[in-house]
Amino acid sequence: MTDLHTHILPGMDDGARDVETSLEMLRMEWDQGVDRVIFTPHFYREEEDVSSFLCRRRQALSRLEQAASQLPARERAVLPRWELGAEVAWMPNLADREELKDLCLGQSNYFLLELPFTPWRDQMISQLYDLLGRGRFIPVIAHLDRYWDRQRKEQIEQLLRLGVPIQLSANILLKFFSRRKALRMLQRGQIFLLASDCHSLHHRPPNLGPAVKVLARQLGWRQARLLCRRAEDVSSKREEL
Ligand SMILES: [Fe+2]
Repeated sequence: MTDLHTHILPGMDDGARDVETSLEMLRMEWDQGVDRVIFTPHFYREEEDVSSFLCRRRQALSRLEQAASQLPARERAVLPRWELGAEVAWMPNLADREELKDLCLGQSNYFLLELPFTPWRDQMISQLYDLLGRGRFIPVIAHLDRYWDRQRKEQIEQLLRLGVPIQLSANILLKFFSRRKALRMLQRGQIFLLASDCHSLHHRPPNLGPAVKVLARQLGWRQARLLCRRAEDVSSKREEL
């Protein structure tokens, strides 16, 4: 199972503060059945240029790899493998952004896109169509559930009509009140997938495993496996558009 939205890399953003936390989060992922994790630290183009971000990401990764290499072999063996990615905050003219090539999930041409929390402008959807029209990079829309109550319903529908993969947060299946809405969405046949968007050990912890179990109980293992395979696919395939 792949968790493709995580803030596990140490000291990169509001996720894991240090290497010890990163390693503990990775152990939690493994214990829940996750054998592959994509590190997706926040990238804010307005605050940092891509070369500085990539340099920080490299340094954080090497700190983690150094610490992991010092673990006894039996402890290293029970960590998921990892690959790099980013959670790319919305930026205008996305179709022209060359830096996306360095921000994709693993070896794929999919990248995780965080949309604004402020009211969406109509041109956002048309710029997403422009991006798809170029045929190089495909967005995976991060945590749609966080926009449900902030954006207009018709804009959410427009977004769904784009036909790109949509990530839902694992925790919406773990909370009674959001579960019903999440299950209704998942049954619409959209291109959904689940990820933890984990940030720490206690507040927003890794929780993909329990969420998949809830999904399997409610909609069956076939549907749960489909969502898991989709996360695997979009973080490893290079898709021709
Ligand atoms: Fe995130």
